[in-house]
Amino acid sequence: MLKVLGILGSPRYGGNSDMLLDSALEGAKEGGAEVEKIRLCDLKISPCIECHGCDETGECIVEDDMQILYPKIVASDRLFLASPIFFMNVSAQTKAMIDRCQCIWVRRYVLKQTIGKGREHRKGFFLAVGGSKNPEKFMGAEKTIRAFFATLDFTYEKDLLIAGVDEMGGIIKHPSALDDARNLGREIASV
Ligand SMILES: Cc1cc2nc3c(=O)[nH]c(=O)nc-3n(C[C@H](O)[C@H](O)[C@H](O)COP(=O)(O)O)c2cc1C
Repeated sequence: MLKVLGILGSPRYGGNSDMLLDSALEGAKEGGAEVEKIRLCDLKISPCIECHGCDETGECIVEDDMQILYPKIVASDRLFLASPIFFMNVSAQTKAMIDRCQCIWVRRYVLKQTIGKGREHRKGFFLAVGGSKNPEKFMGAEKTIRAFFATLDFTYEKDLLIAGVDEMGGIIKHPSALDDARNLGREIASV
């Protein structure tokens, strides 16, 4: 059974990226995958303090809830990362989690280890919601997530970038976003 991990970077419970992620995970569950959802806001995650404590081992020495998240990220076959766009990039909660994966960067690029089952197998999906209609606002976030997925040995398989949705729960009125996410979840669970 494929392990699908969903990580939510929005601070809004029941917000737009939360609903988008739920639809994707429901689809994945319907497709037969084992699904787990993590809200970064429920965890205590300090930003990377650039202590270089991971340089030799690829293990982060900061004792907080990232220690719970690392093994889940490494064990997952599919990752849905969902974030709102904040100032042309992902949320601070998402970026803190990403920066704390510097230890996995060490494993991958310094210690030359394969992460989990490796990039041929592991697939990452980026779900993002932004208030403005300008499609350029996703460019910064997409670059960040491409680098993040590559570090974690995930292929950047697909994204759903939803523009022009701002108010709480406004994504319900979008003509296709939630259906697209559910269908994507179903598709990736059965591969
Ligand atoms: C601090 C902050 C910064 C934001 N910056 C942007 C931005 O640069 N571009 C954009 O399109 N929307 C921006 N927004 C709007 C959010 O992306 C939008 O409200 C989104 O639907 C929130 O998703 P959520 O409900 O999943 O948190 C910003 C909102 C906040 C609170």
